[in-house]
Amino acid sequence: MILKAYAKINLGLTVVAGREDGYHQLKTVMQQVSLADYLVFKPCDGEGWRFTCSNLDLSGGDNLVCRAADLLLAKVDRPLPGVEIKLYKNIPHAAGLGGGSSDAAAALIGLNRFWQLGLTRKELMELGARLGSDVPYCLLGGTVLARGRGEILEPLPPLPFFWVVLALPAGVTMATADVYRLFDRSLMGKPRLDPLVEAIREGSREGLANWLAGDFTNTLETAILPGTEALRKMKRRMRKDGLRPALSGSGPTLFLMTGDYSLARNAARIVANEGNEAYLCWTVNQQEECC
Ligand code: C5P
Repeated sequence: MILKAYAKINLGLTVVAGREDGYHQLKTVMQQVSLADYLVFKPCDGEGWRFTCSNLDLSGGDNLVCRAADLLLAKVDRPLPGVEIKLYKNIPHAAGLGGGSSDAAAALIGLNRFWQLGLTRKELMELGARLGSDVPYCLLGGTVLARGRGEILEPLPPLPFFWVVLALPAGVTMATADVYRLFDRSLMGKPRLDPLVEAIREGSREGLANWLAGDFTNTLETAILPGTEALRKMKRRMRKDGLRPALSGSGPTLFLMTGDYSLARNAARIVANEGNEAYLCWTVNQQEECC
């Protein structure tokens, strides 16, 4: 069995308030894109799971895939037939694209099927929330308004097709927790996402394009931009070419959305020619069957 674990972007993100548990109350619109990791599940001798990853740095037992497998084993509390899980990474790590969360979601779905556990999507989402704030969204997919820690989900109508260019300054990573610590608290509750949500509900390409062309779509940009010259430089360069990139999640990935393939292709070239990483992908609205 081979499953795709799609990356996500945040079309808008507002930190609404702090929380006693150290997390933050969010309002964000998430969208799946076609860039994906692959998880391969194969029967093997013995019981339980074995795990390998194409990226050796991510092949330790603390990978969210292993933690997802352990959560399922603890939940059913009986020996289960051996399964070998191979994770092939394509989604850049620690980039605000939800790669680890999406891998965890695909692991929960894949193992639920492989071991024939019969857990519902809702049950998997409850387990997933223990692994990370974005895991429940990754189990649902599509276009979603998320609240709370990111786990309270309201599906929105699917977006019309867009090409999506993902742009990352080479070698820049920043821990999500640090980005949340550094964001400008005077901007709590901003930007208001109403125009974005309205544009999506109305299926308005123009409304969405106008939202994304705005200067301020993601509160966390105030935390990551000042400390990362490479990101500022990449953004300046893109804007010089008339492009208006937005920040995904806690960064450092910037993204563009357009219906125009040539524009997307050129934007990806400009970004890559400057020594950055660029990915040309598209919006997807696909949900894996859980059982
Ligand atoms: O849930 P996840 O493990 O992905 O979160 C990583 C870190 O990001 C948390 O430890 C927390 O510092 C921060 N975070 C937050 N509020 C959220 C989501 C994440 O402060 N809603």
